[in-house]
Amino acid sequence: MTPNEDIISKVRRFGLCNKPTLYSTDELCRQMAGRGVRGAFVECGVYAGAQLGIMAYNAMLENERGGMSRRVIGFDSFAGIPRATEEDDETITGLIGPTLATPGDTPVSTGVSAQTERQVRNNLRNWGVLDSRTRLIKGWFEEIMPQTTMLDAMLGEDGIAVLRLDGDLYQATKHCLEALYPRLNAGGAIIIDDYALTGCRRAVDEYFGGEPLVTTDTPGMHKTYPNGITLVKTDPNNPADGVHHGYKPL
Ligand SMILES: C[S@@+](CC[C@H](N)C(=O)[O-])C[C@H]1O[C@@H](n2cnc3c(N)ncnc32)[C@H](O)[C@@H]1O
Repeated sequence: MTPNEDIISKVRRFGLCNKPTLYSTDELCRQMAGRGVRGAFVECGVYAGAQLGIMAYNAMLENERGGMSRRVIGFDSFAGIPRATEEDDETITGLIGPTLATPGDTPVSTGVSAQTERQVRNNLRNWGVLDSRTRLIKGWFEEIMPQTTMLDAMLGEDGIAVLRLDGDLYQATKHCLEALYPRLNAGGAIIIDDYALTGCRRAVDEYFGGEPLVTTDTPGMHKTYPNGITLVKTDPNNPADGVHHGYKPL
């Protein structure tokens, strides 16, 4: 399948991400369309909207070609990354500052990686991908992810086809996984952009049962970029699909 170079070149300089991750998101969205996996394209941790723009572009294209109509949802504080907690390490606190948050307290922004909702909306509009399918949801993951009624309303009955987690920290990853992974459809993909970071990795490994989710010799892993991983949710009703923990590497 040919990458959507036009949108990738438009969003590229707005991303806080490696170039291959943009190709990876584009490819996954196209794969979901090709395989008919239903559900929304969702990103948690949007920054300026580069990855979300690729998701929105693909949703638009799929619909124009007579495919399904997907929602595209970006969750973010639109106020930047909050303070880390003790589960995170100095790789990230070196970037966002050493003051730690107390879990359970309202998150406090460090101001790092802050883009306003308005800036993101303008970017999506300038790239020609803002339409009624796309929603930006403002709030701390710690506060909005437990709001199941709101998530039900946002996602409808369709669930999620591509779930991209890019919130860097332990708490962000934990809250997004707990709320949204159960809503990812079988055959859908989850991209964990920050698996190389201690806190993110710990949240993911804890969620999937405490064992390291992947090792360096897991086949197919680290497929497209060095820091993140991509997993495909398996179908519990299909024994042939049954790889441990209900996921398999891409
Ligand atoms: C590394 S940036 C995302 C980069 C973006 N996905 C890209 O590829 O360009 C992290 C984003 O996560 C958001 N974020 C981090 N922790 C959050 C939290 N607990 N609640 C809400 N947003 C959060 C920040 O505001 C920031 O926009």
